[in-house]
Amino acid sequence: MSEVAPRLTDIADRVGQMLEALLPAVDGPEAQLVDAMRYAVLGPGKRLRPFFVLESGGLFDLDETALLRVACALECIHAYSLVHDDLPCMDDDDLRRGRPTVHKAFDEATAVLAGDALQALAFEILADPETHHDPRVRSDLVLALARAAGARGMCGGQMIDLLGVRDDLGAVARMQRLKTGALIAVAFEMPLIMAHAGEAERHALMGFAQDLGLAYQIVDDILDHDGEAAVLGKATGKDADRGKTNYVTLLGIEDARARLALLVSQTRSHLEPFGPQADFLRSSVDFVLDRRN
Ligand code: IPE
Ligand code: IPE
Ligand code: MG
Ligand code: MG
Ligand code: MG
Repeated sequence: MSEVAPRLTDIADRVGQMLEALLPAVDGPEAQLVDAMRYAVLGPGKRLRPFFVLESGGLFDLDETALLRVACALECIHAYSLVHDDLPCMDDDDLRRGRPTVHKAFDEATAVLAGDALQALAFEILADPETHHDPRVRSDLVLALARAAGARGMCGGQMIDLLGVRDDLGAVARMQRLKTGALIAVAFEMPLIMAHAGEAERHALMGFAQDLGLAYQIVDDILDHDGEAAVLGKATGKDADRGKTNYVTLLGIEDARARLALLVSQTRSHLEPFGPQADFLRSSVDFVLDRRN
């Protein structure tokens, strides 16, 4: 089986270097904002979404620098979503990636602005001709990321989460697919756009992406229930304490695990049309399942 961990470390390093170059520290009155953005996006995240961009892009032999830029754009949106998710008006969390959250390390207003500016930076990166020579491709990338991040994607899912869904597994699955699944799915969609991929490839890869996104959030909910904060780098037991509904609170831990196992076998089967080139993606399913942080 392909070893995901070293591959992930290598991609994380390259994405970290490119983010560093895309977001250098500045002097002057706006330095505090840029420092907070750097704190949020250069912190020790797993960089799983960049991994999915690079690995799915690898199926189509796409240019690595272009893929890295797309991966950085997506990671900026993801980092912004975490900064805002942790705010007192949302999940009110003090710990993220093993360090104080952005509003704790800086202040709330700076955290709001850092999230806003990271979101703008993501679209700036995608719209830059350095990302792709074809303006049509650039505009399709912007469209895909905007849809995944907006009211019918991540933000919509966050709204449903805050309002609280109750007693309905279908509604919880939909919330999960939006709040977490959408940003994972777009990691696969953007390389498909860059490759001008055909319908069959798109269908297979997006099926994989959607199931993987849901599985990812169920694992997050299981870790919130029985993970270790020191390993996880964020507090545990938050969802039940706040009366949030997710797979674990709704079904209990054993049933949630059983549903996850079922989902996972379904997830892998989507990759059947792809050959050994998709081995890292196949292995990433186990990696997601077995993760401890
Ligand atoms: C955390 O995402 C929030 C969820 C969507 C579950 P990650 O588990 O990818 O967090 P980092 O980027 O590694 O910190
Ligand atoms: C957050 O879900 C998803 C997004 C940030 C969009 P959670 O609230 O469960 O994520 P953690 O557990 O704080 O990382
Ligand atoms: Mg949340
Ligand atoms: Mg949270
Ligand atoms: Mg969580």
